[in-house]
Amino acid sequence: AFRQKRARLLALCKDAARFYHSCLKEPWGAQVRDYIAQRRISPRFATRFGLGAAPDQWDPLIKTMTAKGYTKMELIDAGLAVGGKNGGIYDKFRGRLMLPVIDVRGDVVGFTSRILPGLEGAKYLNSPETLLFKKSRLIYALNYAKNTKRPNLILVEGNIDVITLHQAGFDNVVATMGTALTEEHARILARYTKELVLCYDNDAAGKQSTDRVLNILKNADLSVRVLQLPNAFDDQGKPIKQDPDDFIKKFGAAAFEKCLSGSAEQNDYRLDSLRTRHDLSTEEGRLAYLKDAVAAVAALQSPIERELYGNKAASAAGISGQAMAQEVARYRKDKT
Ligand code: UTP
Ligand code: MN
Ligand code: MN
Ligand code: MN
Ligand code: MN
Repeated sequence: AFRQKRARLLALCKDAARFYHSCLKEPWGAQVRDYIAQRRISPRFATRFGLGAAPDQWDPLIKTMTAKGYTKMELIDAGLAVGGKNGGIYDKFRGRLMLPVIDVRGDVVGFTSRILPGLEGAKYLNSPETLLFKKSRLIYALNYAKNTKRPNLILVEGNIDVITLHQAGFDNVVATMGTALTEEHARILARYTKELVLCYDNDAAGKQSTDRVLNILKNADLSVRVLQLPNAFDDQGKPIKQDPDDFIKKFGAAAFEKCLSGSAEQNDYRLDSLRTRHDLSTEEGRLAYLKDAVAAVAALQSPIERELYGNKAASAAGISGQAMAQEVARYRKDKT
């Protein structure tokens, strides 16, 4: 019975994706088509990623799917409809650009969606957790990225980032579903690649997520690099938030490829980001940096890595590798 129910919900999600996609061709769908074009997603890639349009009405999906024989309960179970207070139900997604979420086997298991410009509502809205839609293990675009010939996978924050990067020739890009990466995501990714490149937005939130993800990936069987997009500034010299999608649009694929080859190995990234938090031209700054760096280096499991990155931190702070090694050894002893 469970497998039967699962099969029904999978069929429903697939039919819903078809419905949303077909809505693009309706007259009112022009607004969504325009938005897709405005994001510079080509019709070919819009189709490749199954993009669609949810009408800004209460129940067009429910009507179409119940006419096909699905029940209202199934629509609710698939996360496509929600029950109202008066016992009625209405479409979960209304007036939105629809992005089907396809699992690694190629089945539609749910949706993410973006509000259209000028309409009210949450910018991004995902399917709720369902029998099929498990955010802690879904990896967007892995169904395509698993076939890449590139030597790594690139993890970005946003689904649109994924699509525009694929379109620019980076068919190894994936994303989680708006939530932080879990250990389960890490285990799945490790099955498909040996190297993961993190490329989160270069804003404060993106940097925080990067640190968090690096911690989670510590236990994963993956080598990890960090691609930091260069800072951009507005006319007033204020930093502007930039994500891979913005970057590709402004600077093109070759520039992104260059950033990719310049991405830092994770321990270098950590030491670099510690360095930017201290002023190494003053003695206090160097001491404070060393304190952080000792803790970071001491946490490395491999003695070879501790020596390598210990030496790097030491030379950045102008002390001997030997003194650094002693501090690291002492720190490790105190903590165990
Ligand atoms: P961002 O806030 O960086 O999106 O969120 P963005 O780049 O500005 O979006 P666009 O370019 O205007 O479309 C990145 C990701 O975080 C999740 C989504 O998965 C999104 O793609 N997110 C963001 C949410 O789940 N909910 C939100 O309200 C915002
Ligand atoms: Mn962001
Ligand atoms: Mn934005
Ligand atoms: Mn964006
Ligand atoms: Mn973004």
